[in-house]
Amino acid sequence: MQDWMAVCRVDEIPQLGSRRVAREQGLDVALFRTSQDEVFALLDRCPHRGGVLSQGIVFGRHVACPLHNWAIGLADGRAREPDDGCTPRFDVKVEQGVVYLDAAQLASHATEFTRPTAGPCTRLAADAAGSGCAGTA
Ligand code: FES
Repeated sequence: MQDWMAVCRVDEIPQLGSRRVAREQGLDVALFRTSQDEVFALLDRCPHRGGVLSQGIVFGRHVACPLHNWAIGLADGRAREPDDGCTPRFDVKVEQGVVYLDAAQLASHATEFTRPTAGPCTRLAADAAGSGCAGTA
């Protein structure tokens, strides 16, 4: 038995767009709305390098990641070939224009994922160790 929790109305998600649902633990869940008003829920993290899928472009039943343009299936979270990877999906239901997510899934599903840190921190660390150009005249 699922414990459905109302999170928003369908019309609060832009058509061919998304809306994020924050969680107490773990990354946000991204809700996506297609042109046919279908609603899907995925972890807001691309399986490639952690791009923010809610900032991507929805087309058909896919979202294009804003970082490197992988196409991620909204129904199953799988990257479209030739790319390979999967982001966790969440159960979602829509009743009378209201979007519901499963409360237990929201609390515990895929909470182990984090967002990768950007490269400049790595370069600064390398410079401090004397392997970069910093400090040379
Ligand atoms: S991080 Fe999404 S395509 Fe690279």
